Amino acid sequence: MVHPGETLLEMLRERLGLLGAKRGCENGDCGACTVLLGGRPVKACLVPAVEADGAVVLTVEGLRDERLRQAFLEQGGFQCGFCTAGFLVNAFALLQAHPDPGDEEIRLWLEANLCRCTGYEGIERAVRSAAPGVASLKIEVAERGIEDEEHADGSLDGACRCGMGRGAGRGDPGGRAASR
Ligand code: FES
Ligand code: FES
Repeated sequence: MVHPGETLLEMLRERLGLLGAKRGCENGDCGACTVLLGGRPVKACLVPAVEADGAVVLTVEGLRDERLRQAFLEQGGFQCGFCTAGFLVNAFALLQAHPDPGDEEIRLWLEANLCRCTGYEGIERAVRSAAPGVASLKIEVAERGIEDEEHADGSLDGACRCGMGRGAGRGDPGGRAASR
């Protein structure tokens, strides 16, 4: 049972014991709490838990993609690692929507996530190097149930309040994407 006012992040961490999504700013700025909700990236600290009712939620624990994780390791995509779960989930969403993203596309998409350690270059290299293998997982994700076909490409509509997903880096609708 969902508690009134409970966020998706609180439900995942405190009641389901899924600690992959991190509690960072709790204000929609940092992206450390990113999960996929119905196939689209959202900042779980901003999403009421009730909105996840009946939807598929993919956290970093369920992201069974060794290539992306390995690429972060090999390319120096993290240091302290606090931001990494959010980056992995959002990068996965990017590669589902755009299997062969250009440098600018990677940079813009990932502007929804902040890292205080790496300078971002290792993260962007990791996403670039993992792209071919991760894109091939698209069917697997579809089979797991993306309920909202309209958002199967990771895009967002006006109903979203989190500022994540396609276009997030090009102008967070909530003005929450902090500058680097
Ligand atoms: S903890 Fe959710 S965006 Fe920072
Ligand atoms: S690796 Fe430390 S915040 Fe990103």
